[in-house]
Amino acid sequence: MTVQSETVSFAAILVAAVVLTYKFASQSQKPAGKKSRPSRSARSPKDSTKKFIIGGNWKSACGYEKSRDLVDMMNSLQNIPRNIEVFVAPSSPFLTMVSESLQDGIAVAAQDVGNHTKPGARTGEAFATMLSDVGCEWVICGHSERRQYQKESSSLVAEKAKVALDNGLGVVVCIGESLEERESGRLEEVLCSDMMSTLAGSIGSAPQTWANVVIAYEPVWAVGTGKTAKPADAQSTHAMIRNWVSKNVSASVASALRIQYGGSVKPGNAKELAACPDIDGFLIGGAALKPDFLEVIANAAAGLQ
Ligand code: PGA
Repeated sequence: MTVQSETVSFAAILVAAVVLTYKFASQSQKPAGKKSRPSRSARSPKDSTKKFIIGGNWKSACGYEKSRDLVDMMNSLQNIPRNIEVFVAPSSPFLTMVSESLQDGIAVAAQDVGNHTKPGARTGEAFATMLSDVGCEWVICGHSERRQYQKESSSLVAEKAKVALDNGLGVVVCIGESLEERESGRLEEVLCSDMMSTLAGSIGSAPQTWANVVIAYEPVWAVGTGKTAKPADAQSTHAMIRNWVSKNVSASVASALRIQYGGSVKPGNAKELAACPDIDGFLIGGAALKPDFLEVIANAAAGLQ
């Protein structure tokens, strides 16, 4: 062997060693992956206990430190009432951190999901299974802020919900009307003929699909404004949505379906709202960023008795 070929072989061995070391190092730096949590989707429509479901939507309001503080706050919550299920929805950069540090009894939701049907060239989008990989069990679809600022249409929201469901996530699909739509008598048209109908057209009517769906009724005029729908108005709107599902999907899906109310839920109104027969949970923004959230959970439990 010449000096030249010995140098080439030595260089080849060195390159191989560097590649192997890099591969090993990058594998060992991968996140721990999905934390083991009580499985949401294991519940079938038949054995559904229809737990009251309370979600804290942290929106884009919290950086890393604030998200960590909120995890500490949520980890201080002991003895979550057996008839209440809780999730939090952090911003996407912190999903892994939250999922890995949050107590097991609380689920993690993403605030959005891509509508593409398989992973691939969609810069900026998170595919549904990637959200599961970092510990999400739920994804919020069609929040009114995304409909308003990202111009998400009902069909895009319905596509996202379908992809998420097809890939094993539960979906919290937000629907809601503006004040102008309510006052001009278009409540049913907006909520049912448009939003619910487009969703049902996309996901179909199978009870096992709907077992993984939560509807969040959030009147746009009540989100982040401090104005809450009167419990009687929220109740009648929830009953209208359930009635639509009963007629257009099936009676059994309608009765098992959980419909959250969202829009300025706070400790002072949680008990009365939770006591309404067709309100099956809350989606909470502002109050989820402070200890009020724990009070809301306690007060909802009182309203359910
Ligand atoms: P809010 O937000 O509780 O601050 O009104 C609710 C939501 O956006 O889900």
